[in-house]
Amino acid sequence: MNTCIAIIGAGPSGLLLGQLLQRAGIDNVILERQSADYVLGRIRAGVLEQGMVDLLHEAGVGERMMREGEVHDGVELVVDGRRERLDLHGLTGGRTVTVYGQTEVTRDLMQARRDSGGRTFYEVPDVSLHDLDSDRPRVRFTLDGEPVELSCDYIAGCDGYHGISRQSIPAGVLQTFERVYPFGWLGLLSDTPPVNPELIYASHPRGFALCSMRSPTRSRYYVQVGLDERVEDWSDERFWDELKRRLPEEVAGQLVTGPSLEKSIAPLRSFVVEPMQHGRLFLLGDAAHIVPPTGAKGLNLAASDVSTLYRILLKVYRDGRTDLLARYSAICLRRIWKAERFSWWMTRLLHRFPDTDPFDERILRAELDYVLGSEAGRRTLAENYVGLPYEAIE
Ligand code: APR
Ligand code: PHB
Repeated sequence: MNTCIAIIGAGPSGLLLGQLLQRAGIDNVILERQSADYVLGRIRAGVLEQGMVDLLHEAGVGERMMREGEVHDGVELVVDGRRERLDLHGLTGGRTVTVYGQTEVTRDLMQARRDSGGRTFYEVPDVSLHDLDSDRPRVRFTLDGEPVELSCDYIAGCDGYHGISRQSIPAGVLQTFERVYPFGWLGLLSDTPPVNPELIYASHPRGFALCSMRSPTRSRYYVQVGLDERVEDWSDERFWDELKRRLPEEVAGQLVTGPSLEKSIAPLRSFVVEPMQHGRLFLLGDAAHIVPPTGAKGLNLAASDVSTLYRILLKVYRDGRTDLLARYSAICLRRIWKAERFSWWMTRLLHRFPDTDPFDERILRAELDYVLGSEAGRRTLAENYVGLPYEAIE
């Protein structure tokens, strides 16, 4: 089997890259370990930066997002029980975010993939990568019980944090940067109307809470929990009670509760590998970096990596600009580190850390006071939240 680009993983990174390449006429094959239904069953984030929205339009998959996604002009922060609205639109010269679930993005991309006739193989459990340093790398896997070898020009490692792409890079090449936080997020999805038209990020002595949504009839809520908590110990009732305690009274009073469709605990971590490439293998999305969800940056960073690699590959195949390939990692990492910083900062600012002493607490309160009380502070937060610009590829 032959192709130009072998794409490992059919999450948002792999599917979006595949779709952009299909439209540009650059042949590609996607290999995914799980089934399509399994991929669609994972509940993930739902806040899209303008850059990602634009990229989805460019990929020809923006139509349903335009109809069903909600454009948000602002977001709320709650500190000491006080509600503070950040006018994202006003503070950033007209930029906004769009609320549209990752599940829906993935569904749209899967449909577009089927329509494009692109080759996708699901439930391929044993992908391995070979000859990354040569000019014709190979991907081996088993299809219908038969061994297959896929020969390609380049490999896009879009297989998430647990994938094999990063692990296929020889020891000693990658440097890892990591921070593990001493808590997780317990999330609940329910078919109830959102408590507020805009997202609410709440800092509270009992811990952080977030009110988010997927549609006018579907809500997503989170509460910060200790790492030793087990989801089995959290009945829906206990979740709703805890959420209400962390919200201002007038918000809690309006909260519509209902049975959970999904409930899970996710640990929080920051993680980056450098460089994001080796030979002819390029890492994208969660395969190369993780952010804590506080800044809503995970999915958006995957999109900016896809944009960067796609624009480089366009120039490689159209103009022979193979010189650009060596710059992939550095271009991506400049933006990634800024989003890592923002996500770390938001996490530190809004969560309760077990080892916080009274001095730390006063400093944190002063920081929140400053940021929300100053035009410059609010603008900085808003500019990062709506997403920093993509670098031009030239
Ligand atoms: N072979 C093939 N596919 C694999 C392998 C493997 N060895 N290992 C993992 N995969 C698949 C996973 O099953 C998954 O479908 O790769 C896909 C990776 O998808 P995601 O984990 O969603 O990662 P990505 O596409 O980079 O999406 C960006 O950032 O913050 C998050 O919520 C955000 O999930 C989103 C992610
Ligand atoms: C979500 O809706 O799941 C969500 C929204 C904003 C975040 C994180 C998660 O910062």
